[in-house]
Amino acid sequence: MVTSSAPGKVYLFGEHAVVYGEPAVPCAIERRARVTAREIDEGLRIHSEDLKLDGFTVEYDGDGAGRPDVDASEPLLEAAMGYVNEAVAQVRDAADVPDAGFEIRIESDIPLGAGLGSSAAVVVAAIDAATRELGVELSAEAIAERAYQVEAAVQDGEASRADTFCSAKGGAVRVEGDDCRTVEGVDNLPFVIGYDGGAGDTGALVAGVRSLREEYDFAADTVRAIGDIVREGESVLGSGDYETLGDLMDFNHGLLSALGVSSRSLDSMVWAARDAGAMGAKLTGAGGGGCIVALDDTDDALTALKYTPGCESVFRAELDTDGVRQE
Ligand code: MEV
Repeated sequence: MVTSSAPGKVYLFGEHAVVYGEPAVPCAIERRARVTAREIDEGLRIHSEDLKLDGFTVEYDGDGAGRPDVDASEPLLEAAMGYVNEAVAQVRDAADVPDAGFEIRIESDIPLGAGLGSSAAVVVAAIDAATRELGVELSAEAIAERAYQVEAAVQDGEASRADTFCSAKGGAVRVEGDDCRTVEGVDNLPFVIGYDGGAGDTGALVAGVRSLREEYDFAADTVRAIGDIVREGESVLGSGDYETLGDLMDFNHGLLSALGVSSRSLDSMVWAARDAGAMGAKLTGAGGGGCIVALDDTDDALTALKYTPGCESVFRAELDTDGVRQE
């Protein structure tokens, strides 16, 4: 039996623009998914208790024909099971054991569907744990590649490498198209995360930005300007100049808002954090709902967000320089 864990992530800069070839900087956070894999004779048994699915346990054969008996939305369950099925297919392929059976237990303290890369963290940890269980040790890069293939399969090809690479490698990473690399020299970023309890529809939000960009040159310019923010941000990232990073996060949020992907609750959490003295704050991920990330090394933004209407939970999550690891 092997347990592995992998971190979730926030976007320091660059979501949405990354879809059009601009760079983005996702950062791993100290919130992890843990997956335990045990080889069994055949089929798959999956147990999950902390995926905001109210807990589900499912037993099914290798065809994925079984269905869990829980009160959770069908699309959410389909997605969760789809990720695990595809991850196991990657494991069987990597270890060259096409009929390997597994019992898999998933625990995660990353809210599901909130833009914090929960599915990528589960997939990365699952691939690491299950391949190790079969006696195969993959590099973080190989796990990132296989996890990306999983996300691409489940999301009909609409996946970026950002979440899976960041989760596998940890730290701050830079993603531009297929080029993914670690940003060296970044070992501390004091993140505070506010969560409105909801989730945006990533597909619809990406489509909305795409049509604005096609219709208006100034929207295309806005996407390019986000890329400029990322390039500027990269150059100060290792310096510990949080004030400048915060200013750039504020600017990035403004441009995302102009592209129509913020929401009332995200804006009010962003403003609560800024009013409390955070160095910067922005939405993270696709937007429409979900999470904001603020940069604050005091407790002030955390306290302010606790009392902000629309903020369902708030937590501190430092940069996690560790990627996937065996527990
Ligand atoms: C969603 O977490 C991030 C987006 O940039 C979409 C993507 O990169 O696939 C909005």
